[in-house]
Amino acid sequence: MAASSTERTHSALDVGWVRAQFPSLRLTINGHPAAFLDAPAGTQVPRQVMDAIQDYLMNSNANTAGAFLTSRRTDEMLAAAHQAMADFLGCERDEVFFGQNMTTLTFAFARAIGRELKARDEIVTTALDHDANVAPWRALEEQGIVVRQADIRVEDCTLDMEDLRRKITGRTKLLAVGYAANAVGTINNVAEVVRLAREAGAHSFIDAVHYAPHGPIDVRALGCDFLACSPYKFFGPHQGVIYGKREHLQRLRAYKVRPAPDYLPDRWETGTLSHEGIAGVAAAVDYIASIGRRAFPNLPEAPGPGRREAILAAYRVIHEYEGGLARKMIAGLLEIPGLTFYGISDPARFDWRVPTVGIRLARAKPAKIASYLGDRGIFTWDGNYYAVNLTERLGVEHDGGLLRIGLVHYNTEQEVDRLLTALHELATR
Ligand SMILES: Cc1ncc(COP(=O)(O)O)c(C=O)c1O
Repeated sequence: MAASSTERTHSALDVGWVRAQFPSLRLTINGHPAAFLDAPAGTQVPRQVMDAIQDYLMNSNANTAGAFLTSRRTDEMLAAAHQAMADFLGCERDEVFFGQNMTTLTFAFARAIGRELKARDEIVTTALDHDANVAPWRALEEQGIVVRQADIRVEDCTLDMEDLRRKITGRTKLLAVGYAANAVGTINNVAEVVRLAREAGAHSFIDAVHYAPHGPIDVRALGCDFLACSPYKFFGPHQGVIYGKREHLQRLRAYKVRPAPDYLPDRWETGTLSHEGIAGVAAAVDYIASIGRRAFPNLPEAPGPGRREAILAAYRVIHEYEGGLARKMIAGLLEIPGLTFYGISDPARFDWRVPTVGIRLARAKPAKIASYLGDRGIFTWDGNYYAVNLTERLGVEHDGGLLRIGLVHYNTEQEVDRLLTALHELATR
């Protein structure tokens, strides 16, 4: 049997080419090149995304459904962008809708889901999640919904699946679980979460915001009912996206103005969207596909039906490359005196993590470490990054939280070396 094009020999990620696509990576601070290790809060943007935004504003800027050129172009661009996200997620284009960001979309969507729930129905969230996948569900407590929280295993910051099972009862209607944890990088067994939800007769809402820059998403293979992500975390502009199974998006009652279309996906896209941002999202998906095409020259040319295959191919080389960086970074971190590491540190289990890590140092609080690194051109985050259930559970919320270092495929071994050297200096001086 012939091998598929993604099984053939491929080249490794061409990091020089990747970095050349991102103009912002040229920034310097105090004579140091900027090392953007802040990706979990939003990634940098390649030139082709900037060009797409500018092109839309110059040549197509209009509202939708008008009887003139720029409006027609806008309608076509929106249809193409929905198709791009459908290729990215592995679904149909009317099953995805855009909005300002994941948080805003999820608050609105949770309210619509709440219309189908009764007092004493239950929703299960987790202690590992960003609050954007907790607070919108807890807002439903006002109508008598009960929200339960599945615990973690503190020793490696993984979801306690036994506890999750215990939290599911005959009244459970929804499991809201993250694909990957934005504070410590754990990948959850979401396939099992979806299975448990289905077994209980409940729906599953997967927050894939943190996973999306690191791994391929296949909503059909997962079988989840809903999934959310944010294109600004995968090289696009500030946007949010939700996928929903068509049957749900048709059945649920959206909060919408009466004259707005009632068909999919428009019924979920409230008001006038950021069209230029959505044009940028399509370009971000094409940027990811272009990584796959460069690494696997046998893939079909763009544009064409091969975009999904190119995206999957891209994530293969991204995964290999990021895995190498993560192994180097974590091995180096574990040698730093007085460093506490939160999350999976055993390389044999790295398939269950993305290259985002949470640490603390005995000698300096997270805010101090972040500013020490920032002065040296190394961008990281301190605090809870809205994963407040987790920082509380780890007992660090009152004491500055964690320092988060997040790598993506435009980062380099040299940047990891600089990080390790600077942290070592701070920890031992
Ligand atoms: C895991 C996770 N979920 C949700 C969000 C919220 O996304 P948005 O900023 O698009 O509202 C974030 C943002 O940091 C996140 O990391």
